[in-house]
Amino acid sequence: MPTATRKILVTNALPYANGPIHIGHMLGYIQADIWVRFQKLRGHECHYVCADDAHGTPIMLKAQQLGIAPEQMIADMNQAHQADFADFHVAFDHYHSTHSDENRELAELIYTRLRDAGHIKTKTIEQLYDPQQEMFLPDRFVKGTCPKCGAEDQYGDNCDVCGATYAPTELKNPKSAVSGATPELRQSEHYFFDLPAFEQMLKEWTRSGSLQDEMANKLNEWFESGLQMWDISRDAPYFGFEIPDAPGKYFYVWLDAPIGYMGSFKHYCQTTGKANFDDYWQLDSQAELYHFIGKDIIYFHSLFWPAMLKGASFRQPTNVWAHGFITVNGTKMSKSKGTFVMARTYLDHLDPDYLRYYFAAKLTNRIDDLDLNLTDFAQRVNADLVGKVVNIASRCAGFISKKFDGKLAASISDTSLLDEFQAAAAGIAQAYEKREFSKAMRDIMALADKANFYIAEQEPWQLIKDPSKQAQVHEICSIGINLFRLLMIYLTPVVPALATRVQEFLNDEFSWDSHQQLLTDHTISPFKALLQRIDMEKVEAMIEDSKASATPAAAATSNGELERDPISAEINYDDFAKVDLRIALIANAEHVEGADKLLKLTLDLGGETRQVFAGIKSAYAPEQLIGQHTVMVANLAPRKMRFGLSEGMVLAAGPGGEELFILNPHAGAKPGMRVK
Ligand code: 2FM
Ligand code: ZN
Repeated sequence: MPTATRKILVTNALPYANGPIHIGHMLGYIQADIWVRFQKLRGHECHYVCADDAHGTPIMLKAQQLGIAPEQMIADMNQAHQADFADFHVAFDHYHSTHSDENRELAELIYTRLRDAGHIKTKTIEQLYDPQQEMFLPDRFVKGTCPKCGAEDQYGDNCDVCGATYAPTELKNPKSAVSGATPELRQSEHYFFDLPAFEQMLKEWTRSGSLQDEMANKLNEWFESGLQMWDISRDAPYFGFEIPDAPGKYFYVWLDAPIGYMGSFKHYCQTTGKANFDDYWQLDSQAELYHFIGKDIIYFHSLFWPAMLKGASFRQPTNVWAHGFITVNGTKMSKSKGTFVMARTYLDHLDPDYLRYYFAAKLTNRIDDLDLNLTDFAQRVNADLVGKVVNIASRCAGFISKKFDGKLAASISDTSLLDEFQAAAAGIAQAYEKREFSKAMRDIMALADKANFYIAEQEPWQLIKDPSKQAQVHEICSIGINLFRLLMIYLTPVVPALATRVQEFLNDEFSWDSHQQLLTDHTISPFKALLQRIDMEKVEAMIEDSKASATPAAAATSNGELERDPISAEINYDDFAKVDLRIALIANAEHVEGADKLLKLTLDLGGETRQVFAGIKSAYAPEQLIGQHTVMVANLAPRKMRFGLSEGMVLAAGPGGEELFILNPHAGAKPGMRVK
């Protein structure tokens, strides 16, 4: 029996707005979406919101690198993310941005309440500062030699070679990863959230008994090592919200990110009227609130977030559910192996329901990592969804259409197997509820085996030859179609697109409770193929595509000292048309003292001369370049670099090192000509 209607709000971790969604991200979104679809199918009032996490230094710098305003970059990324989610059938009720009015208001409100309650302290700290870029440097933006093992080119927080963790100030020969400048120590006043004041409350929350074991253990470790004050401010320049009473200071991105859950929900409530914001967030709220997150951000969600809510007089989350990461073919996703697959690349080749099913078949409610073995993926989906489930319909539907005018039997005399399938609903529902999706899938597939066994045993294709057995065939096939229908009701949260096609085929509309009725005396549509088998060639093509798009196109270069990510966000034609490409004559080229990768070029644009620092030293000697024509971006905003001003970019491509090629038009090209 269904329980009374529950009010539930579900969120997923907010993806950063500086990169595309990949299949590793999709695990958490698919997990939550399945759970939400299950709740909705059961008839509960369940709202599902998310947003882009749009603030912070990496986003600010990425936009700078792309030469566009951060607002523009996050708007484009937001669209791309929403398209990826929608096409994976992750059906958020609302998708917002943390860079929104609602979020600013809520962040200010929460901060003000915390401050007025005495939970915000200030302290002057010392931090590395990039004098050239004129900004304080987050740890990840300082690189240098590991103080423990001497490995070069290590990040400011930990060493990839020996695993040591340290403060960026301990690095030897530190350099700013933004400009290459040597950073200096500077002081600045920072704002801190008094996390230790919430220790008691957090301990009670941990003991509530409903947290995942691994999460409760982690929390206990953190309590043992002692809670620390949390630094919630960053100095300008920063892309984020300015702290109301502190000009030039901004909320650290992780302060307003979880508030983004509220901001997104608030916008949804205000624009659709489908829920009341306060009902879900006020102190005495009876609604359920769940956050689905990855295991890497437990700290933020199980310590800071409940404490912030408590300190600002909002309710606590009912629970925070963490999932593990994915590996592909047993190892970390890898760009060179082509297993770092973007959501869009997957969608270009394969049906999202396949991946949804595979993840469901392997997901438990623990924080274990999950391996996507691509051969197993294809075999499992083909064997289970196509070979077991859809097969039931394809074996029975032809007889119903051809021999019985598309109509199912008016009554069924032997309902024993159907009874068993209906009785299984409670256990399957419980598994969904507890996020034991792999158990739910096992139970469903065990039933599918029974259905296939039943049909194989009855052999309707033999009976149909005997004119006296027609009614029997009608009953067997009607049972088969009903068994198939029950399985598809149970699978609806996992494979929504397939379930939609099945509902069209059956002329039916599923809710969870539909399993209590059977379809009799009911007309179904002619059977069409409901699901294709996975063709391993398509999986291989997806891998090849992923390899190809991961090849680092050596962006030419106002800053050859930086390792760059390939820029994979799609741009539209108007964006491209903004780039002013010109023929330039390389009037001079010379080495730059102290730069490993840069050459200083003097470019003649036919009447105008530009100085450009290009990261092509590994491929060209200056004397090879002087007198050559090339192509440059002429309207790039000038950038101040350690070695001087760079006034444009030359275009080059290739994997890097010696294999880096500048565009080299025919000598007939005249400097200053526009490239069309
Ligand atoms: O780790 C991340 O990808 C963050 N953008 C998650 C934020 S979740 C929430 F707090 F906003
Ligand atoms: Zn080291």
